[in-house]
Amino acid sequence: MDFVKTRKRTLALVKHLENDDFVVQPTNYISPIKWHIGHVSWMYEVILKKLDPHYIFHSNEYVKYFNSYYQGITAPYEKMSRGIFSRPTTKQIFKYFHIITKKIISIINKNDVDITLLRLAINHEYQHQELMIYDLQYILSNLYKPFKKTNLQSPYMKIKSKMIKISSGIYNLGHNSTKFSYDVEKPEHKVYLEDYKICIFPVTNGEYMKFIEDGGYNDYKYWLADGWKTVQENNWEAPMYWKKDNKHDKWIKQDFIGKRIINQHEPVSNVSFYEADAYCRWYGKRLPTEAEWEKASCWNEKKCQKTMFPWGNTISTKFANILESYLWKCTEIGSYPDGKSPYGCYQMIGDVWEWTSSEFTKYPGFKSEFKEYNDKWFTNQKVLRGGSFATPKDSIRCSYRNFFRLDERWLFAGFRCAEDI
Ligand SMILES: [Fe+2]
Repeated sequence: MDFVKTRKRTLALVKHLENDDFVVQPTNYISPIKWHIGHVSWMYEVILKKLDPHYIFHSNEYVKYFNSYYQGITAPYEKMSRGIFSRPTTKQIFKYFHIITKKIISIINKNDVDITLLRLAINHEYQHQELMIYDLQYILSNLYKPFKKTNLQSPYMKIKSKMIKISSGIYNLGHNSTKFSYDVEKPEHKVYLEDYKICIFPVTNGEYMKFIEDGGYNDYKYWLADGWKTVQENNWEAPMYWKKDNKHDKWIKQDFIGKRIINQHEPVSNVSFYEADAYCRWYGKRLPTEAEWEKASCWNEKKCQKTMFPWGNTISTKFANILESYLWKCTEIGSYPDGKSPYGCYQMIGDVWEWTSSEFTKYPGFKSEFKEYNDKWFTNQKVLRGGSFATPKDSIRCSYRNFFRLDERWLFAGFRCAEDI
């Protein structure tokens, strides 16, 4: 059980924050960092209540404040109001965090609790570690001091970007191992895929710049109607965090690394589904479906077998740029030659989540394993696959289905292109 390690890392991620950094909520999709700290602790209490209806929560005030969207527990506050409460204070929330840590450790030691549900709460904490990193980029950018930072050690290989063909056939989509997965990754089931081509790399900043320079953001014909409306209403002219330095005619990005000229060889990040879809139309391609993405990432046609990751069944920083790499940014394409999938696709895990064209909906035979966790989000969201440089290693596998609304772009999301043959 990785409980203690997980709790320690949540604390490590916020180790160098100032008191004031914990409380701000600058926009409606960001949560105050203090709220994340309390909410991940609250989730363990929710599990304890589920296991024992007589369980008494630490505080009724906390039950309401730290509830994200679980109507079955109590009516939650609107997300935007998380930042308007000065109480509980950050100090009180840390106290609560430690009380819950101690409580769960003693329960684990007594061996009298259903580990399956506790595992869900640990995985939930992984998800919030990543969400906190999105929020910290927005709140602090390069003022954020990571508790650990490394430089890329893996070899860089100059590989020409191209598309590869994947032959038609029946593919078994979904999670098929005995290791942890969310309910939405199951059950594994058959889908038929036509022949298709998929790019071996995600789309790079340099490639995306060509779309911008060709007037992509000014021409309705590349955009879905809702996408075009979003572009107009928000005056989008580039991915989030990009600014044009007109004096030097360069695109600049501000992120954890600092203010810098955008690296043309890194995957484009912080784009919405609408932007990913518009780029593909401009380029004469399309986004892959989630089944096409998954097959390209982990199916070995010669051996007739599926692995959890493109390179095998265990994950490490040798193969992908994930949170444990502690690089705090994307790596250039070609940085992880050992992470290649059997079909020859690179960087499918880590760096950026990849938008697919698939609606987030239940697989045939889906059974909810925890009410309101995933099962109430099967509408108006698209599936993303593959994880980002902020995804903890135990929070990603090829079958993992992330989902966000079509206009969201503060997550580290990019995409790769596909096409029909
Ligand atoms: Fe949550």
